[in-house]
Amino acid sequence: MLQKQLEYIRSITDFKPQVALILGSGLGALADEIDIVKTIDYKDIPGFPISTAPSHKGRFVFGFIGKAKVVIMQGRVHLYEGYTPKEVVSPIFLMRKLGAEVLFLTNASGGINKDFSIGDFMIIDDHISSFIPSALIGKNDDSIGTRFPDMSDVYNSNLCKLIEDTAKENNIDVKKGVYIQLRGPAFETKAEIRMCKTLGADAVGMSTAIEAQAGNYCGFKVCGISCITNLACGISDRPITSEEVNETANRVAGSFKKLVIKSIERIANG
Ligand code: HPA
Repeated sequence: MLQKQLEYIRSITDFKPQVALILGSGLGALADEIDIVKTIDYKDIPGFPISTAPSHKGRFVFGFIGKAKVVIMQGRVHLYEGYTPKEVVSPIFLMRKLGAEVLFLTNASGGINKDFSIGDFMIIDDHISSFIPSALIGKNDDSIGTRFPDMSDVYNSNLCKLIEDTAKENNIDVKKGVYIQLRGPAFETKAEIRMCKTLGADAVGMSTAIEAQAGNYCGFKVCGISCITNLACGISDRPITSEEVNETANRVAGSFKKLVIKSIERIANG
């Protein structure tokens, strides 16, 4: 299927991206502002999982951010939509086959760390994926990656530093921390958030770790930024809604876009 999808995309464009960027909940607007070369709707790609999440657009955008050639996923697919782990990460393998070398992940998350405020950005420096199934289970395809991939630098430390430096230069405040991916689609209980906290997680969400693991496996240098759109259950007494998540993401979209765009420009400049 991967080969078919690759052929379909290649029948439309020979664009070879350097950076693959995935835009999370409420963060998709960034793709409308870049220098667009081509867009391809997921629904037109053979066997491609289609995003059913609200506010996810469902298309690849090929274009330029400064000098950087990028492919953007405007909308991702999640395990909670009913897709298998392999389906969820199939776009990652496809973007790697298209030639991308850096995988830049973004998401919306609930803040667990007491020092985090709503609207903060967190550079993801590690993750906990132990509560979700791995997309790497099953017969290994050695042409994509090794059976037992190392995850000791899953979020590439040089890229984390580059994002941190970029934030400083642009006067954007950033935190750093560990992201935990749970299955969703229900937001967590208070007891679950206590568990996450005990385990060392700073922010919780329903995506990203599965992608980072697959990305690392297939040879991407991976990095990620999480937007703390709400405080996790029990950290604040307020019930969590997807409206609040989107509202916060929209509110901070300006500085978020700036941080992502400036970081990617810097990646392209070597
Ligand atoms: N929990 C899980 N996923 C999320 C949250 C949350 O609090 N906020 C945004 N995505």
